[in-house]
Amino acid sequence: MQTKIQNLLKELALTRETFWNIPEETGKFLNLLIISQKYKTVLEIGTSNGYSGIWLAEALSQVAKPSKTKSPHLYTIESNLKKRFGLATENFKKSGLSKYITQILGHAPDAIPKTPRKFDLAFFDATKYEHILYWNAMKHRINKGGTIVVDNITSHKDALKNFTKEVQKDKNFTTVILPLGTGLLIAVKN
Ligand SMILES: C[S@@+](CC[C@H](N)C(=O)[O-])C[C@H]1O[C@@H](n2cnc3c(N)ncnc32)[C@H](O)[C@@H]1O
Repeated sequence: MQTKIQNLLKELALTRETFWNIPEETGKFLNLLIISQKYKTVLEIGTSNGYSGIWLAEALSQVAKPSKTKSPHLYTIESNLKKRFGLATENFKKSGLSKYITQILGHAPDAIPKTPRKFDLAFFDATKYEHILYWNAMKHRINKGGTIVVDNITSHKDALKNFTKEVQKDKNFTTVILPLGTGLLIAVKN
């Protein structure tokens, strides 16, 4: 990772609580997942100020290097125009990764249909009570071998109990819960 991006991530980590950003270890995990699996199309629900998006897009920039066939890309959805959407645009520019990123302004259930039909990875990090809507919208749009990652599975265990059960009984996915950061649910499409 370029020093410029490392420094930007360190700077943004200082305001993590204000912008509800993922912990560094979750960023590292998502970054490694994309690189190791050579994922090319990623959807994020909940951009905030772009911290997690930088981890995701940095990995996509590395996947882009050896192959020129399909250009890797992150689509990231955020509903808050006033406080967070514009900040994310600025931070993506600072990272030098803007060419790998399309920001979508809107309420996720309305915005998802405006994104490409298929993804290798979807990361849910927005309103917890809507996770089941995101799951139903995305479960048929994940490529075989692709993954849905959901944050806050441990920190919001009770609120996400029914959602977690629903995902665990879906036979099209193999699911594991990782005690990383605030708890990640990893569902891999069989
Ligand atoms: C936990 S923060 C995301 C943090 C970000 N992923 C990071 O780690 O840098 C959740 C974000 O989702 C946005 N959000 C909440 N509900 C949403 C929805 N239904 N559609 C789009 N964005 C939503 C909020 O405005 C907030 O900025």
